Amino acid sequence: MSYEPPLQGTKRPDLMKAVKYIEEIYSEKKERSLNEFIRMSGVEDFDPLIEDDIARLFSVLVTLTRPKRILEIGTSIGFSTTILAKAMEEWGGRVISLEIDAEVAKNAIANFKREGVKDSIDVVIGNADETIRDFEDDSFDIVFQDSSKRLYPVMLDECLRVLKPGGLLLVDDTLFPVINPKEEWTDSDEAIHRFNKRLLERSVISTILPIGEGCTIAVKL
Ligand SMILES: C[S@@+](CC[C@H](N)C(=O)[O-])C[C@H]1O[C@@H](n2cnc3c(N)ncnc32)[C@H](O)[C@@H]1O
Repeated sequence: MSYEPPLQGTKRPDLMKAVKYIEEIYSEKKERSLNEFIRMSGVEDFDPLIEDDIARLFSVLVTLTRPKRILEIGTSIGFSTTILAKAMEEWGGRVISLEIDAEVAKNAIANFKREGVKDSIDVVIGNADETIRDFEDDSFDIVFQDSSKRLYPVMLDECLRVLKPGGLLLVDDTLFPVINPKEEWTDSDEAIHRFNKRLLERSVISTILPIGEGCTIAVKL
């Protein structure tokens, strides 16, 4: 079915104006921001991290659902891992984070120590497409996919396998195909588009939020 605009008149905010407004409002809250985290880590070469609006969304979702175990796929220097672990501090939840690059993982672990969350995080080094197979069915309350975009469609069924019914699948960067200013999609755009379509065929309730570079939230039925 092709897109039909709503029959009622709906005003939509200009997204960049909305982001600036939201960040200004939230700058008054003393939360660890992405920029602060990057500065404090002292590392310059790393894969992109979740934006502050996604970090806030994750804190809300974790507080709402009180997960005991979260699986993160793609650690980088550990900003999202830190946000998830801090949100679970009150009831002692754990984050298991999968990362292929051992050097990057070392930087992440140094950041976890500085942020006081090291004891609630396990980093598993290796190709997530393989290491995820070590986890049991229905063993996580939340799975957060943020690794190589090529892996999104490939790993979808494994992500759903390890997720409990009623659990949340969170996926970053799912609006890549509409952010790319070029006419032709990159391999990452193609992979994400395949993922977005494939998710609709699975037993989930889902949506894509236009925050960060697009964030999918799906509940496993
Ligand atoms: C976008 S970054 C993750 C950012 C992090 N989640 C954050 O927001 O703080 C993606 C990470 O996935 C890792 N990665 C890429 N392919 C992977 C694979 N096959 N298995 C595990 N990790 C992978 C990269 O090395 C990189 O550190």
